[in-house]
Amino acid sequence: MAQVVGDSIIKDMKALTYEGPYRVAVREKPPPRIEHPQDGIVRVTAAAICGSDLHLLHGLVPDTRVGFTFGHEFTGIIEELGPRARGVKKGDRVVLPFQIFCGGCYFCTRGLTSCCENTNPATDAGTGIYGYSHTMGGYDGGQAEYVRVPFIGVDAEKIPDDVEDLDALPVSDAFSTGYQAAEMCNLRGGETVLVLGCGPVGLFAMWSAWAMGAGRVIAVDHIDYRLEFARSWLGVETLHLKKLDLITTVKGMTEGRGADATVEAVGCEAAGSLMHRALGIYAKLEAGSPEAINLAIHATRKGGTVALVGAYGPPMNGVDIGTFMNKAQTMRTGQTSVKRYMRHLLEHVRAGRIRPQEVFTHRMPLEDAPRGYHTFAQKRDRCIKVALLPAPTLH
Ligand SMILES: NC(=O)c1ccc[n+]([C@@H]2O[C@H](COP(=O)([O-])OP(=O)(O)OC[C@H]3O[C@@H](n4cnc5c(N)ncnc54)[C@H](O)[C@@H]3O)[C@@H](O)[C@H]2O)c1
Ligand SMILES: [Zn+2]
Ligand SMILES: [Zn+2]
Repeated sequence: MAQVVGDSIIKDMKALTYEGPYRVAVREKPPPRIEHPQDGIVRVTAAAICGSDLHLLHGLVPDTRVGFTFGHEFTGIIEELGPRARGVKKGDRVVLPFQIFCGGCYFCTRGLTSCCENTNPATDAGTGIYGYSHTMGGYDGGQAEYVRVPFIGVDAEKIPDDVEDLDALPVSDAFSTGYQAAEMCNLRGGETVLVLGCGPVGLFAMWSAWAMGAGRVIAVDHIDYRLEFARSWLGVETLHLKKLDLITTVKGMTEGRGADATVEAVGCEAAGSLMHRALGIYAKLEAGSPEAINLAIHATRKGGTVALVGAYGPPMNGVDIGTFMNKAQTMRTGQTSVKRYMRHLLEHVRAGRIRPQEVFTHRMPLEDAPRGYHTFAQKRDRCIKVALLPAPTLH
């Protein structure tokens, strides 16, 4: 099959697809088409694998269909535009927020683009997300050579000429999410911020907490190389989850009180409970474990804030809501409303304050994406984050 896109004739394209729990493959698929007047077609130049993709890989997200293309963090070049797409032009180099939003509804006009009413109206739980199952709208993702971008004129952010694709790529998700998490901590200066999870989201939350005036940043994980990366990249203190009692240790570091704010950047696959894992994968009763939420509640001081940005799906049992209530804490959470942070974060990159691409310990052709998934999922080879690079052209 062939299709005309711009001045080019494209045959089938390569895409990373779901093949069942723990299995992904690179398949030939028909290229996307303009389906709506405000759509665009983007030729992907780089796509990242996110911790959220692992929940898909592990079969934890309902209605993930075989053959579906993953990928919600990507940069690319605009190849084709629908007749009503405004504000962008063919040839623009862009980065896309991971969620799809209309720009005009009740929530979008209030900056809460992660809650857009129009791109996934079948559920109350969030907006459409690229490559994130039919639960999140069934939009094919960007771990492919081409992707359809709805509302492209509203959603796309142009990448400044002096910013490289791989520095812009994390702005689509991990960097914005870490930044939003730190913002949720409502820092005034000098606070102790605990960050659970030294994956990309946690790392960007640590950077952002420093940028917003934290006095002390303490990072937690159970993987040595990730703790080392956090220490050397960001100068944070680190605690190994399995080598000490976390709650007692954090209280000991904070005059017995706990952290002023804790960022939970782990999500439903927290190390902890095999029972919860089995309930998720086999019974689809519970997508994961509440381990990290409970650590956050217990390690945060009374009156403190928990910024919960790790991802959760269906209802979760065993959350220690009583302790949360009695400690008079605040919890802030949500999918990130990425668009409102993009320009600001790209300015930080331009100013040389951070080189986001340093998290891409692994860069590989799209064809090698299954290897990238398994390396990232199993935290092998000191992997922090994977960038997939489609071939420069198909023509
Ligand atoms: N809210 C949003 O909009 C949003 C956006 C992007 C990602 N996420 C979510 O953020 C989370 C992190 O994403 P990532 O890309 O950094 O993933 P990642 O898998 O690279 O990182 C998670 C880290 O948590 C560590 N960990 C596991 N159990 C832990 C525990 N009990 N305590 C402390 N650390 C523990 C893991 O070892 C790992 O290093 C995921 O749940 C992802 O779905 C949310
Ligand atoms: Zn993501
Ligand atoms: Zn909207």
